[in-house]
Parts: sequence; structure tokens; C-alpha cells
Amino acid sequence: MKKTVAIDGPAGAGKSTIAKLVAEKLGYIYIDTGAMYRAVAWKVLDAGAGTTDEAIVRTAETLDVRLRFVGDAVRVFADDTDVTEAIRTPEVTALVSKVAQLGSVRSKMVELQRGMAKDGGVVMDGRDIASNVLPNADVKIFLTASIEERALRRWKEMKEKGYDEPMEKLKEEIAARDKADSEREISPLVRVPEAALLDTTGMTIDEVARKVMELCG
Ligand code: DC
Repeated sequence: MKKTVAIDGPAGAGKSTIAKLVAEKLGYIYIDTGAMYRAVAWKVLDAGAGTTDEAIVRTAETLDVRLRFVGDAVRVFADDTDVTEAIRTPEVTALVSKVAQLGSVRSKMVELQRGMAKDGGVVMDGRDIASNVLPNADVKIFLTASIEERALRRWKEMKEKGYDEPMEKLKEEIAARDKADSEREISPLVRVPEAALLDTTGMTIDEVARKVMELCG
């Protein structure tokens, strides 16, 4: 039977790396829900009509966000623009928590996400997957790591993309995002009691992937 696997956790916990790897091993589709909120944030900035709640809601209403296979890789599209790389800039990262707080944006994204998972065979990562998007997921995992380790991972990721951000700044940004994601009113980041807690501090990617595969049974 094709399962649905929900992986939640804070920024920089390694969710996307692990979810992608595990999806590959299982022959499942990987769905990066954070990328969908990022695509909305990208469009808001690209439209240049400001970043008020009203402007964000208006942009999201008409935007077509889609994850599409191009060859073997999943790419992110905002309308017809491939924004896979563009959604990882510091500017998009700075705006995305604000975008993800808005109820109408979330409803639209959640509906799309449920549609993508309806036939099973998916590994979906985000903040509210087990608690809201797929409460009946077969496997629920909450992935976390210390803030120092998460900042270091983010630093390495940004470095590879040509950004050299001070570690302290990254730590502050991650802490601010943790706070915004955990304290927002609608679908905050929470660990549902039945989710397996996996603290990946000090673990290698292979070790984490192996553990997650075990949990997928
Ligand atoms: O995982 P990420 O950093 O790409 O996520 C980007 C933002 O989107 C993050 O600040 C939290 C938000 N998000 C969310 O609210 N719900 C999700 N299911 C996924 C991401």
C-alpha cells in the first residue's frame, strides 16, 4: 500500500533534504509545502505592489502555484515562471512567514496539498502537515535540531548559493521564524502527540534517512 508520510519541524531541521531522499528510496513523490508559500512570497515581491496583508491576499488569489516534474526533478512554478531557485533568496525568506500567517493563503495552499496527496505515495514536509493538512497520514515525524546546528546548516546551504551571511544573523532569523511559525494563530508549528520526535543534532543525513525509513516501516 502506498503511504502518506508527514514530516514537520522548524526551519533548518533538514526536512527537505531528508524528505527528498526518503521519497526517492520509497519511489514516492516529494511535496515541499514551504516552497509553495515561498512561491506566493516571490510573486508578491515580483509584482511590486507592496507587502501589506491586502496585497499578499490579492496576489495569492489569482496565483497558480504548482509543483511540476521536469525530468526527474520537481520544480516550483508561479503561474508559468519557474521559480525553483528564485524562492530561496534572503528577500523571499524574510517575507514568507508573513505570507504563511494569512488564513486565505493557507486555505488555498492546503487544498492544493491535499489534492496532491489524495492517492498516497507522497512524502510531504512543512509545519502543519500532521496537525492540519494530512491528519490521517500513515507516518508522522517531527524533525528538529538545535538552533546552532540549524543555523550552521543554513549557512552552508546559502554559501553554496553564493551568499555569505553572518552566522549570528542567520541564528537570529531562524529564531524569529521559529517564533512566528509557532505562535501564529492559524495552524502553528506543533508536534502532534503521535508524531515520532527525531532530534537530528549531530546526526549525518544518512543516519537520519535510515531512521526515517525505519519509521516508514
Ligand atoms: O520550510 P521553509 O523554510 O521553506 O518554509 C517557508 C515558510 O513557510 C516558513 O516560514 C513557514 C511556512 N510554512 C508553513 O507555514 N506551513 C507549511 N506547511 C510549510 C511552510
